[in-house]
Amino acid sequence: PGLALWGGRFSGGPAPEMVELSRSTQFDWVLAPYDIAGSKAHARVLHRAGLLSDDELTGMLDALDRLLADVAAGSFGPVPGDEDVHTALERGLLERAGTELGGKLRAGRSRNDQVATLYRLYLRDGAARIADKVLDLQDALLAQADAHPGAAMPGRTHFQHAQPVLLAHHLAAHAQALVRDVDRIRDWDRRAAVSPYGSGALAGSSLHLDPEAVAKDLGLDRPTANSIDGTSARDFAAELAFVLAMLAVDLSRWAEEVIVFSTAEFGYVKLHDSFSTGSSIMPQKKNPDIAELARGKAGRLIGNLAGLLATLKGLPLAYNRDLQEDKEPLIDSVTQLEVLLPAVTGMTATLTFHTARLAEMAPAGFSLATDIAEWLVQQGVPFRVAHEAAGECVSLAESTDRTLDQLTDAEFAGIDAALTPEVRRVLTVEGALAARDGVGGTAPVRVAEQLDLLRTRITTD
Ligand code: ARG
Repeated sequence: PGLALWGGRFSGGPAPEMVELSRSTQFDWVLAPYDIAGSKAHARVLHRAGLLSDDELTGMLDALDRLLADVAAGSFGPVPGDEDVHTALERGLLERAGTELGGKLRAGRSRNDQVATLYRLYLRDGAARIADKVLDLQDALLAQADAHPGAAMPGRTHFQHAQPVLLAHHLAAHAQALVRDVDRIRDWDRRAAVSPYGSGALAGSSLHLDPEAVAKDLGLDRPTANSIDGTSARDFAAELAFVLAMLAVDLSRWAEEVIVFSTAEFGYVKLHDSFSTGSSIMPQKKNPDIAELARGKAGRLIGNLAGLLATLKGLPLAYNRDLQEDKEPLIDSVTQLEVLLPAVTGMTATLTFHTARLAEMAPAGFSLATDIAEWLVQQGVPFRVAHEAAGECVSLAESTDRTLDQLTDAEFAGIDAALTPEVRRVLTVEGALAARDGVGGTAPVRVAEQLDLLRTRITTD
């Protein structure tokens, strides 16, 4: 049988329906190592406050260590009657330390300050692991950029051909978004690194425990400043839910491109066999399942954020049992990303880019028209007039089924006297790319600079 932590004023045990609804060990067991770390820190402050003798402290820490080893080995786990991870571990402690000594540990703490603390510990570890995996994906994107230094591709707006860009510039754009995702995780971590331990149920403890010492012991920066806030705030979880949902959305945008770019119509990339799937009926199929799962999971992570915010909305201070619903969404977001990120990284690292196809399509759709207009501006033509003239060039080329550089000198001159044969200089993809040489532009020199900076960010992050 499990252990109830609140038998005293009750005449009988809880109804089975109550037990069934109340139980959370099926998802909160992942917090067990953190709960034990918290218990050890708590034992030390009880000792410092004179509430545990030297021998009792030694016995308590020893029992907690043995409990941790049994949890790690899988020989201790929750039983159906255990309400939550805290209750199960309390039972494990009493079994190992005896009820006399083990029964002293609960003094001055509540599951309310306990869970608020160790959930932070769990999430900080999970977020750090995810940040590392994001760095691996950035690495894969940069390696692909490095492997194709001069390759051009069609840049798009409204998903229509817009202007040619370097493939490396496009890949680096995805890496830039991921840099911000990692930044957000690091920044969130500073706010999450506080310890509600010592807040008790909501009002603090009368036992002169030392919340600073517990915080330090657990690797947290400081105790929370307000025990009511400490036990009831979950914005740290909601904020991370956003940070992770945003990361998933960034993965999803890259995934969507991989899906489209790998179709026969585009033919920009080929997926590696080991990072794609086949069809049970159509022998020719090669499917971008990883990218599709990335796109799908983004929806799920957005749901985790929305669900948690809905749970928090309208909760009065301080602890309410609704708060137990804070765990599954974030445990899920962390777990999903830990599986998803390495797969997306592998898919990215093994993509084959068809650079000839990309180069062929780069000038398609009259994507050099802006270059005609900007060249005219440099000849002193007002942009309004230049835009008009370039538009006429497009119209003429389109109606006679030619590319812009196939217009004759006479045709150019007929559209605007300023359009001398010199304009042909900018009517190449290379010319258009090299011309965009301001900071952040797609000129090869600028992109090389950008890749260097990204590389430095990734190695120092
Ligand atoms: N399992 C609960 C949670 O995750 C913590 C227990 C607090 N329960 C209580 N009745 N005060 O929120």
